[in-house]
Amino acid sequence: MKRLGILTGGGDAPGLNSVIRAVTRKALLSGYEVMGFKNGWRGLIDGDIIPLDLRSVSGILHKGGTILGTSRTNPLENPADLQQLLTHVQQEQLTALIVVGGEDTLGVAHTLHQQHRLPIVGVPKTIDNDISETEVTFGFDTAVNIAMEAIDRLHTTAESHHRIMVVEVMGRHAGWIGLYAGLAGGADVILIPEVPIDLDEVCMMLRKRQQRGKEFSIVVVAEGATFKDTTVVTKADKLDAFGHLRLGGIGHILSEQIEQRTGFETRVTVLGHIQRGGSPTAYDRILGTRYGVKAVELVEEGRFGYMVALKCNQMIAVPIADAVKQLKTVDHELYNLAKTFFG
Ligand code: F6P
Repeated sequence: MKRLGILTGGGDAPGLNSVIRAVTRKALLSGYEVMGFKNGWRGLIDGDIIPLDLRSVSGILHKGGTILGTSRTNPLENPADLQQLLTHVQQEQLTALIVVGGEDTLGVAHTLHQQHRLPIVGVPKTIDNDISETEVTFGFDTAVNIAMEAIDRLHTTAESHHRIMVVEVMGRHAGWIGLYAGLAGGADVILIPEVPIDLDEVCMMLRKRQQRGKEFSIVVVAEGATFKDTTVVTKADKLDAFGHLRLGGIGHILSEQIEQRTGFETRVTVLGHIQRGGSPTAYDRILGTRYGVKAVELVEEGRFGYMVALKCNQMIAVPIADAVKQLKTVDHELYNLAKTFFG
């Protein structure tokens, strides 16, 4: 019997269930037995497994989150965990393992394939859209639409009260969500991790809008953005298992700075995990479905160490090694385009 394992790791993203459903259905058709590992790498370490069949993946396409659960467990942190993981892969006699995750989960997948020859195929997931070698990750479109809708709603209240509204969106290293949601929602300033925030410039744009009779403004800021002026500090101190800072809160610091410097009344909305929750958009359901089917095709072809990717609307395979080499950050050309609409 051919046995295929699947796990979902890292922050959840809308569309994960579409991938699980697609992998399971395609694999069953191809004669595999399908096993789901619970809570990311943790399930493989602990041997926490559920069999996946037509029934278990029925009625999940429209649901956010992941029926398998997820975690930010790093199995490479502790040699005993790694040993247990390798033992379970052997015990379960896995023909292949499909790993659905972002930079950290795929980074581990790469190491396990390279150093321990595990038969892994990757699927790129993150609302941040920062995985290289693919044009889009699933979850991004949903997050952008949620943030855009929030910006639309904030517009009406900002206008009524003549206020500055700072909207903090996710985006740890890359400002894709901020840029896309800000562009689609008509934000007046968009601040992303790739470009340190120049407070003088931001306040100048807000004052100029005021002078031309626009008594409200929407400022979108990605949680991973930093200030050019290093005396203005962003406070994040807790680390996860991959050594990332737990972000969140820059919106409040930015809002205080704007209010102090301009005297304009300012309010903050931190969208946080709302961007990751709830139903995936049609785009993410279809992208997740295409990724899932393609991942099983790669397994059938024995193309281990590869990740499914989207290029020019085609499903392709790229080495996981290339995808995890560096993050895909916002290119300056696109940010310059967005700047056309600032102020
Ligand atoms: O990596 C996706 C992401 O949503 C980032 O944008 C954010 O910084 C992080 O996850 C939040 O992680 P957690 O859910 O662990 O708080």
